[in-house]
Amino acid sequence: MSKLIIEGGRRLSGSVIIHKAKNAILPILAATVLNGGDNIIYNCPKLKDVFATINILRHLGCVAEYHGDDLHINSSNVCRADITPNLMEAMRSSVIFLGAVMARCGHAIASPPGGCEIGLRPIDLHIKAFKQLGISITEKKGEIVCKKKRASVKDEIFLSFPSVGATENIMLLASLGGNIVKISNAAKEPEIIDLANFLRELGARVIGDGTSEIIISGVALKNTNKLIEHTCIPDRIVAATYMSALAITGGEGEVLQINEEHMQPITAVFKDMGCNIEVKHDTMTFYAPSILNRVDYIRTQPHPGFPTDAQAIVMAALSVARGTSIFSENIFDNRYKHIEELNKMGADVTVDGRIAVVRGIDGRHLRGTNVVARDLRGAGALVVSGLNAVGETEVKGLEHLDRGYYDLENGLNGLGANVVRIN
Ligand code: UD1
Repeated sequence: MSKLIIEGGRRLSGSVIIHKAKNAILPILAATVLNGGDNIIYNCPKLKDVFATINILRHLGCVAEYHGDDLHINSSNVCRADITPNLMEAMRSSVIFLGAVMARCGHAIASPPGGCEIGLRPIDLHIKAFKQLGISITEKKGEIVCKKKRASVKDEIFLSFPSVGATENIMLLASLGGNIVKISNAAKEPEIIDLANFLRELGARVIGDGTSEIIISGVALKNTNKLIEHTCIPDRIVAATYMSALAITGGEGEVLQINEEHMQPITAVFKDMGCNIEVKHDTMTFYAPSILNRVDYIRTQPHPGFPTDAQAIVMAALSVARGTSIFSENIFDNRYKHIEELNKMGADVTVDGRIAVVRGIDGRHLRGTNVVARDLRGAGALVVSGLNAVGETEVKGLEHLDRGYYDLENGLNGLGANVVRIN
């Protein structure tokens, strides 16, 4: 089992380049199925979730190959519409293939991601929207069978929660064919805008992305055989991880190739912590104080609120701050799994339902010990904590980290950290 060994207690400084965003890349890779031609995704980081997506694309009949750092996908021969359980289960977000495959093939068969039941979370919003768009859905032997049956019952979908995945799935489904579909209470995340940009390159007419009302007019399949070249947006959560690494070590540095606007909900919190942050174009200059300030209250919210994906990572930094900070996790029910491990390192965090109370240790150091990551962003938080800790921190559970961070240890070592991966 792989692990990271972190020799903590070093002040970080230097510069780091932020790779492209996993959460933008995955739905865009699903969208390549809509284009019966060549697609090039430039600078596509070699993440575990990207390889899981490539496996699905190849299974469907696409040719998907890396040429250096660029991922080339030819989707002219999509020859099947079923996604086998092992492919679905490799990655929760495999569910976004349902919309794309249905748009291309008129039907799709897949198992529910993570074995959930139809109608229950986490894909009830996707399923309800599909039904409203004229898709018949049945469950047979643990498989979801989706068939385009009739013209849409509705061309306006109201999402009871602005789910990122459900918004993407509807956009994918609506982007081929003659329908015009309006999504109300749509997700507004930057990754939605990136997907809309790709769909516009495909020929679909998408307006309103980035607002809560998106209107999509699909393009005819016969008009989609083209070369689409796309560069995805930078990963705002990876950027937040490096900011947290600089903050927890009292460091300073440049975080390169970011998108300032996407970072604003996160930047505001680091400024409250006493960090000095300047951004020119796509370069952030970051200076941390020797002791971080507490932050009153951080509530995770849909964009443009504070992102749930940055909760664990920012909590790591606030665990060493002066004073008590309160978190309220409002997006996911079970997203505090990192806290037990943080506390093993000397943090003082208590949880009551959605609320986590982080009593900062006033600028003292955490202690190195053995910890296990149980999810992707929790893994990022444990690595950040290890950078502050006195002595050696061993982080296991890297299968989670590798889903969304490309070469995190080298990025950190470039800033002066001492992180070694042992396979
Ligand atoms: C995406 C991101 C994930 C991020 C999340 C929220 C990707 C690959 N993943 O996940 O990193 O944390 O957005 O910003 O882009 N829900 C339902 N029913 C549904 C769909 C969602 O109850 O049909 C619930 C979920 O259980 C969760 C909340 O809604 O509690 C938000 O989920 P959603 O916005 O759909 O997140 P994902 O698209 O899964």
